[in-house]
Amino acid sequence: MSDTVQFAVHGAIAEAVIDNPPVNATSASVRQGLAEAIRRTEADPAIHALVVRCAGKTFIAGADIREFGKPLVEPGLPDVIAMMDRATKPIIAAVHGTVLGGGFEVALACHYRIALPDTKFGFPEVNLGIVPGAGGTQRTPRLAGLAAAIRLTTEGGPIDAAGALANGLIDAIAEGNLGIAAHVYAEALIAESKGPRSAGQLPMPADDPTLFEEARQTLSRKMRGQSAPLKILDAIRLGYDMDFDAALVRELELCRESIAGPQSRALRHLFAAEREVARVPDLPADAVARPIDRIGVIGLGVMGRGIVMAVASAGLPVMAVGLDRSHVDAAMQGITKLWASSVAKGSLTQEAVDKRLALITISDDPRDLAATQLVIEAVTEDRAIKQAVFATLGQMTQPGTILASNTSFLNIDALAEASGRAEDVCGMHFFNPAHVMRLLENVRAARTNPEVVATIMALGKRIGKLPVLSGVCDGFIVNRMLSKRSREAFFLVEEGASPALIDKVLLSYGFPMGPFALGDLAGLDVQAAARKARAASATERELRANFVEQMVAQGRLGQKTGSGWYIYDEKRKASPNPQTDAMIAAHAERHGLTLRAISEEEIRERLLYAMVNEGAKLLGEGIAARPQEIDIAMVNGLGWPNYTGGPMHWADGIGLDKLLARIERFRAEQGDAYWTPAPLLARHVAEGRGFYA
Ligand code: 3HC
Repeated sequence: MSDTVQFAVHGAIAEAVIDNPPVNATSASVRQGLAEAIRRTEADPAIHALVVRCAGKTFIAGADIREFGKPLVEPGLPDVIAMMDRATKPIIAAVHGTVLGGGFEVALACHYRIALPDTKFGFPEVNLGIVPGAGGTQRTPRLAGLAAAIRLTTEGGPIDAAGALANGLIDAIAEGNLGIAAHVYAEALIAESKGPRSAGQLPMPADDPTLFEEARQTLSRKMRGQSAPLKILDAIRLGYDMDFDAALVRELELCRESIAGPQSRALRHLFAAEREVARVPDLPADAVARPIDRIGVIGLGVMGRGIVMAVASAGLPVMAVGLDRSHVDAAMQGITKLWASSVAKGSLTQEAVDKRLALITISDDPRDLAATQLVIEAVTEDRAIKQAVFATLGQMTQPGTILASNTSFLNIDALAEASGRAEDVCGMHFFNPAHVMRLLENVRAARTNPEVVATIMALGKRIGKLPVLSGVCDGFIVNRMLSKRSREAFFLVEEGASPALIDKVLLSYGFPMGPFALGDLAGLDVQAAARKARAASATERELRANFVEQMVAQGRLGQKTGSGWYIYDEKRKASPNPQTDAMIAAHAERHGLTLRAISEEEIRERLLYAMVNEGAKLLGEGIAARPQEIDIAMVNGLGWPNYTGGPMHWADGIGLDKLLARIERFRAEQGDAYWTPAPLLARHVAEGRGFYA
C-alpha cells in the first residue's frame, strides 16, 4: 500500500486509515495510499463500502504545505477526490480533530460523513492566501447553501460538528469509538442498500447576486488588500457559470495561481515563522518549563486589568493586586463591565464570564502574591516605582517564583538587580488591549534563567498569546522599530508632507491606520509622555519636531478630546483639522524651515525602510534571534500587513542591495544620526544574500 495509509478489510467493509503525523496532511504517499484503497475496494466484489479515517489527533488538516512550489508527485489531490466522487461503492469519511482545507474537501467528496462531537471543520486556505483547489468552493454551496459556503470559505474560521450537521455538511455525529461507529454506520448503509452519493450531482443553491456583492464589500473592508478572499468568491460563482466538472478544473487553476502569487508566499512564510518562533534556538535541552498554576498580577491600570482578563480567560487562577482598595475595586468594576458588554454583544455567555470572575482573587496587599509561581508587574511606567516593586517582589515571593515586568521600554536588567533574584526576572510585554492582542514580547534579560524563558514561552501559548522572544533594549522589537517610523513621520511633516498624506500612504500600503490617526487614537498625552521619557537620548532635531507637545499644551489630546491631528465628530469620524495646518506653518516659520513637495514613494520608503534598517540592527545585536521574530512581532503587534510577510520578508523581496542604496541616499540627505545602515544589512548585501537566505 503506502507508508502512511493502512488498508484492511473487515467482512464487507474496507477501511483506509491514514497515519501521517503531525496533522495527516495529504502528502504524496497519502494520496497514493488513498487512490490504491479506492482501487482495491472497487476491484473486490466482497467489499461493499469503504471507511476513510485517520490515526492520531486529527483527520486530514489540509494539503501538505511543504509540497507547495515543488513538482507535483502523482496523483494530485483533485485526482484522488475525483476517484472518490465516482466510486461505485459508498465511501464514508469518519472524522475527528480538525478537518481542514484539503481534508475537508476529501470528506466532502466522500459519500457520507460522520464526526466525533468535538470535531472542527474549516477552510483555512484563505489565511494562506489560497483558493481551495479540490472542490471546496463547489461542493460546500451545494450541501450547505450559498451564505454558509461564502462564510466558511472566505472567513477561514472553523465550524463545529453541531454546526456542520445543521448545515448539511455531515450526516451524523458519532459517539464513542470512531472506528466502531464508522463500521456500524457502513453496515447500516449496506443493509439499507444505500449506494454512493455525490455532492457534485446536487444543484447549486439559488443564485443571490446581492449576497455576493455584500460579501465582496465586507471582505474588501475586513481583509483589505488581500486577493484570496475575492478570488474565492469568483471560484464559488463558477458553479453558476459552468457545469460541475468544468468548475472544478477552473477552481484548481485559481488555486494554483494563488499558490504561485506573492501574497500566498508571504502568508505561508508567516505560518511557518509563527511555529518557528515558538522554538527558542539556544535554549539548553534541560531548560524545562516550570509548572505554573497560580499567577499574580501587580498593578491594575489598563494593562494590568487586560492581563488579568487574559489569564482568567485561559482558565488560570489569578491574584490581582492593586495599590489600594479603591484601585482594586475600580479595576474589578472595569473588568466586569468589559465582560458584561461582551455578553450583551453575544460573544461570551454569562456562564463563561462567571467562571472567569471566579478565577480572579483581588487584594491590595503584595504579600498575597507569596503563593503564586509567576507575577506579572504592570505598575506605572516609572523607573523608581518599578524598581521598588521589584525589590518588594524579590522579598515577598518564594525563590523560583518568576517575576515578569510588562514594561514597554524600561531596562529589565535594572529591575532584575533590584529584585535581588535576577535569574527569576524577565519581561512579558503585552500589547493594549492585553486581553485581545495576540502578540506577547517575552524578554530575556542578561541573567534570566533558561527555565524561566521556557516557562514564559509555554505560558504565553497557554493563555492564547503568540509569544516572541526579544532581548533587552529600549522598546524591544515592536516599539523600537516603531520609534523610527514615528521619527520619520515627524521629520516628514517638518519637511512639508501633510499628516493626512503620510497616513494615506501607509493605509494604501496596507496598515490599518497611519501614524497620525494612530497617535490620535492612543492619545497624544500618552505619546508626549513616551517622548518625555526618552528625551535624554533624543537628538535636537527630534526634540524640535515637538508637534505632539504643542497639541497637548493646547488641550488637544486626540480622539478623546475631539481634536488632535484630526478633528473628530461624536461618532469619532475624522476630518482635516485647520489647527494642525496652522501649527505646522507656524512651526516652519519659527524654525526657518522650507517646506517642499514630497512624493508618496519617498514617504513610503522613509517610513518603512527606517523600520527595516532598525530590524537589521536588532538582528545584528542579537535582540531578535532571527528575522522570523521581527516579522511575527510587527505583523501581530503593529498591524504590518500580513500579506507582505512582515518587514524582513518584504525587504528580501525588494532586494537588500536596492534597499541599502536608498538608505545611503537618505543618509546623504538626512544625516548619519538617522540613516547609518545597519552593519548586518551592509554585510548581507556584500554577501549577496537576504535576511532569510
Ligand atoms: N501541511 C504540512 N504541515 C502542516 C500542515 C499542513 N497543512 N499543517 C500543520 N503542519 C505542521 C506544522 O507546520 C507543524 O510543524 P512543526 O512541528 O514542524 O512546526 C505541525 O504540523 C504541527 O502544527 P501546529 O503547531 O500548528 O499544531 P496545532 O496542533 O497547534 O494545530 C492545526 C494543528 C490546527 C492543523 C494547524 O497546524 C493548522 O491550522 N494547520 C494549517 C491547516 C491548513 O491551512 N490547511 C489548508 C492547507 S492548504 C489546502 O489544503 C489546499 C487545498 O484546498 C487543496
